[in-house]
Amino acid sequence: MKCYIICIQTLCGRISPVGFGSQKDRHHLERWRHRTDATLLGAGSLREGDPKLEVPFGKVPQRRVRALITMSGDIPTNKSIFGSGPKPFIFCSKKEEENLKRRFSDMAHLFPVDLLAPRELDLTRVCHILEEHGVKRLLIEGGGTLNFYALKQKIADELIVTIAPKLLTSNRGIRLVQGECDLGHPFMNLELISCKTHLETGELFLRYRIKKEQDIG
Ligand SMILES: NC(=O)c1ccc[n+]([C@@H]2O[C@H](COP(=O)([O-])OP(=O)(O)OC[C@H]3O[C@@H](n4cnc5c(N)ncnc54)[C@H](OP(=O)(O)O)[C@@H]3O)[C@@H](O)[C@H]2O)c1
Repeated sequence: MKCYIICIQTLCGRISPVGFGSQKDRHHLERWRHRTDATLLGAGSLREGDPKLEVPFGKVPQRRVRALITMSGDIPTNKSIFGSGPKPFIFCSKKEEENLKRRFSDMAHLFPVDLLAPRELDLTRVCHILEEHGVKRLLIEGGGTLNFYALKQKIADELIVTIAPKLLTSNRGIRLVQGECDLGHPFMNLELISCKTHLETGELFLRYRIKKEQDIG
């Protein structure tokens, strides 16, 4: 499986508060969804927003997988993702399976996954389950914590990042990679695949290959 992380960030590497991308970036994201078979989204992003995970022309394809991942089991039932389109997948811990089954019996497909550490689900297993459901290209749509685990567990092949012409002036924003341990010594090396500028919006559309051989501590 090929796995892509996609996000938009400020020049200072912050991915929130949301809503700072242009229409151009929205279309860019929707095209990437169209090119991939599934989206994986962290529970934090779902709790904070209400993404439908549409592809171009406002469509939600029946055969595209929309997947969520949670450790706490705190997934709100009143989000649009449960209201229309195919039933989302929810990856969770074995401990939360019963609780989620009660709340989401008809609304989602549940997949309990093993832990690699006390609060860290095994994303390689998540990828295998998705592959078993026909997913060949996975789009990870954040947020920062899920991006961190995807890089730490080395499941991500590429980083697709839009840089918006913004600086966050407070210290509150979530970082593109939001985790508690170092992922490099001190950097993680990326290789540029493509770079497009959009002068009208001032946005840069970048695509990087993630070098997998690096040692993540
Ligand atoms: N600019 C952008 O492109 C962009 C894109 C997406 C999101 N965002 C923003 O990012 C912010 C959210 O980021 P965030 O870091 O707080 O949350 P997040 O990454 O969306 O979700 C984190 C949560 O997902 C679950 N999770 C993810 N990976 C896991 C793993 N390997 N094992 C166990 N649980 C895992 C846990 O769920 P539980 O909490 O349920 O335990 C974890 O706390 C929001 O403000 C959102 O708007 C921005």
